Amino acid sequence: MKLKPWMAGAAILVATSVAQAGVSKIAWGTTTEGKPVALYTLSNDDLKVQITTFGARIVSIEAPDRDGKKADVVLGYPNVAQYEGDTSTYFGAIVGRYGNRIAKGTFSIDGTAYHVPINNAPNALHGGPLGFSTKVWTAREIPHGVEMTLVSPDGDMGFPGELTVHVRYTLQGNSLQIVYSANTTKPTVVNLTNHAYFNLAGDGQGTILPTLMMIDADHTTPVDATLIPTGELAPVAGTPFDFRKPTAIGARIGATNEQLKFAGGYDHNFVLNAHGPALHLAAKAVDPASGRSLTVTTTEPGVQFYSGNFLDGTKTGKFGGKYELHAGFCLETQHFPDSPNHPKFPSTLLKPGETLHSETVFTFGVEK
Ligand code: GLA
Repeated sequence: MKLKPWMAGAAILVATSVAQAGVSKIAWGTTTEGKPVALYTLSNDDLKVQITTFGARIVSIEAPDRDGKKADVVLGYPNVAQYEGDTSTYFGAIVGRYGNRIAKGTFSIDGTAYHVPINNAPNALHGGPLGFSTKVWTAREIPHGVEMTLVSPDGDMGFPGELTVHVRYTLQGNSLQIVYSANTTKPTVVNLTNHAYFNLAGDGQGTILPTLMMIDADHTTPVDATLIPTGELAPVAGTPFDFRKPTAIGARIGATNEQLKFAGGYDHNFVLNAHGPALHLAAKAVDPASGRSLTVTTTEPGVQFYSGNFLDGTKTGKFGGKYELHAGFCLETQHFPDSPNHPKFPSTLLKPGETLHSETVFTFGVEK
């Protein structure tokens, strides 16, 4: 088609709307303390993503199935009050300052011992009872997305150093990219991740047991009965942890296996085969019925694969029903749990003058 002069503006508009994700913001009530909370919507032709400043959480992601039918594929709540009232699931949240567990809430930096609150007895979990998932982050619109910022004061939840964290969520075609950066005023430990629960059949559409999971890991970091790594790297070969070929999450979740028993299912850190500063494959999940797929790439060395073992039918989700056992799975890209107490694990120490940089991309597609 020949472009007529009067069409030029329209053509440019079309081109921009394809390339540029739309970003909008609404007020989303207040916390019990009265702090205003916002809800951002990022949308393009492929995806619609809602993110709230309360815990910098992903509230919803609408993605198409193989027939183009969209469904919300993450678990969550319809309002801030329910997020605030739930101290155990971390739905959609950015967890920190230290995502995952620190044994007995104790670690040392340069010979000084630190004690952080024990909120998952006998260990510290996800940054403590008032971790980053409970904070109202400040937000600003950026091209294709939103940047969330949190300043965690020196001594916050027992961690040393004032830590300034930026998390940038952007939509790029059928991908949601999450870029983390952080700086500290004193040596500290940091492990940041997103704790979204996915159900590729749709929020509230049964369990994730039929989901085919592939995790690009030859090893896991096995845990003790309190879910703290023993320090060993265990080969997945010949175990229910071998997800190197796509396998239904439910296929072996009930197998007789001490590791599965400790966690009531999968709740383990997988050591990713590829590593280094560039994005590499962590996992790919496919819902065979709808065809929806999720591919996770990351710069992190590990991924915590969690099969929603603590969901117990007591929490009412935004879809209007209860979240039953295994209603969603998490793929928490991260450094290994309890790294501050395992010098052989990749280090989670951040020093003044250094900038933590981490990226994870969730890409949604369909299998025919
Ligand atoms: C992580 C932990 C789990 C559980 C969930 C939240 O995945 O490893 O044990 O605490 O968070 O319920």
